[in-house]
Amino acid sequence: MTALGKKVIYQIYPKSFYDSNNDGIGDLRGIIAKIDYIKKLNVDMIWFNPFFVSPQNDNGYDVADYYKIDPLFGTMADFEELVAKLKEINVGIMLDMVLNHCSTSNEWFQKALAGDKKYQDYFYLRKAKKDGSLPTNWQSKFGGPAWSKFGQTDYYYLHLYDPSQADLDWHNPEVRKEAAKVVNFWRGKGVQGFRFDVINVTGKAETLVDSTNPVEEKALYTDTPVVHQYLKELNRASFGQDQNSVTVGEMSSTTIENSIEYTKPSEHELSMVFNFHHLKVDYQNGQKWTKEPFDFMQLKQIFTSWQEKMDEGGGWNALFWNNHDQPMAINRFGATGKYRVKSAEMLAAALHLMRGTPFIYMGEEIGAVNPTYSSMKDYVDIESINAFTELKKAGMSEQEAFEIVKTKSRDNSRTPMHWTKDQYAGFSKHKPWLMPTGQAEINVAQELKDGEIFNFYQKLIQLRKSEELISDGHIKMFLNNDPQVFAYVRYLQHQSQKIVVLSNFYGKKHEVELPDGLKNQQVEILLSNYAKTSSTLGEKISLRPYETLAVKLAK
Ligand code: NOJ
Repeated sequence: MTALGKKVIYQIYPKSFYDSNNDGIGDLRGIIAKIDYIKKLNVDMIWFNPFFVSPQNDNGYDVADYYKIDPLFGTMADFEELVAKLKEINVGIMLDMVLNHCSTSNEWFQKALAGDKKYQDYFYLRKAKKDGSLPTNWQSKFGGPAWSKFGQTDYYYLHLYDPSQADLDWHNPEVRKEAAKVVNFWRGKGVQGFRFDVINVTGKAETLVDSTNPVEEKALYTDTPVVHQYLKELNRASFGQDQNSVTVGEMSSTTIENSIEYTKPSEHELSMVFNFHHLKVDYQNGQKWTKEPFDFMQLKQIFTSWQEKMDEGGGWNALFWNNHDQPMAINRFGATGKYRVKSAEMLAAALHLMRGTPFIYMGEEIGAVNPTYSSMKDYVDIESINAFTELKKAGMSEQEAFEIVKTKSRDNSRTPMHWTKDQYAGFSKHKPWLMPTGQAEINVAQELKDGEIFNFYQKLIQLRKSEELISDGHIKMFLNNDPQVFAYVRYLQHQSQKIVVLSNFYGKKHEVELPDGLKNQQVEILLSNYAKTSSTLGEKISLRPYETLAVKLAK
């Protein structure tokens, strides 16, 4: 596990990183232009959101050609140069493999529509029920029914997402061969990392049946035993042939038991999983499109069980607060305004020092926050726009619905990176596809000049590389009932040393009593986001607003 435990992965949303040709859209040459910045941060690998040929109905998660770069982002030559430039600084590439579904513009779907039987078998095509209703009552995750009419035929095709994203039928071995072929094509270009989009929904039940409620509905197509078989097969046929490959499966609402199987090295499936349970603690009754403060005790409980049980079971977690589907974590779990910097650092330390492989979403390292848009016209994301309509249909006023979209929209993290305080945040000279806001206060130039968050991330990355306790240690949480502090210890069986991490999740000072083994211990301070002088822990410890502290105990 060592190599994986020492890695830190940075996520770049190419559309919003840097626009080299000033057309308002970020591109591959824009990433090449910022290599020095990436080098400075010292990450090991970059996960890029999809830049394959796509109509962009779901920002590239609707792939029309898995083997070509969309001209919006550049050319294959640009990609090859990017691989080479990143290799020079020892940074690997992780590509986003969207293989549960493809765009309806993909030639597979087009051939199927034209009547080619071989390709019709790539999709879930079903006739309407006898009463004329849709084949099942399933709902698309972006709103509306999960079935759309298949051309002029009597059939409907399944799409768990947008109607332009047709689900591929993984029961068909030809589809699984296509998946391995895509992965191997990019391996041939020097790619060693793969993130598999919603991969745990590839195992739909053989016979598609109606569900009686949303929870049962998910179970009909999520985490079914056959997904493990598919992953083992894909592993054998592609990335598993490379000992240094790094893979992550996006596994929304998966379980710990399944995740152990997905990631335990002896199972030969994936290196790690993204699960989203900790990012649902600000959902009211499990519903995303609501506005609710986060439940800290629930957050702690989720981290505790996932961290401890994955450790006991030999599984491996991906650690993350942010990605392109989530509002920025500072707005959810930290604070904007006075404590933005301290809370950004606290969130970073609390996450990075746990057991797993940390992911940093672009902008997180400068303390980026959600944009402040004033109207629905500023939003682009298909899910947000659909949700706005649905919320109004359900009886909310425009203003109420807008307030919810503002808090939960995926566009919150998709805004262009703030490089400077200039118009368009130094991202482009052209009006960007999504507008930046607040770049006067938060931008890379200023952060590198006199900020502290970027340095703090560099230290966290450094610590993971130098401290075996962080990269390989076991984990045990403590102060489980404390309403304000998140605390854990990292330890190794063969070592007497330990690392203890304490983080105050609120803007109020808070005192906690330390457990017996920690009281009055001599410690080395590894990291703190406040000036710290004492190297002895007392019986109690008082943490300032959003303070985080990592110390090493000699025994
Ligand atoms: C998860 C991706 O992260 C998200 O952006 C996308 O819309 C869905 N999968 C569908 O591909």
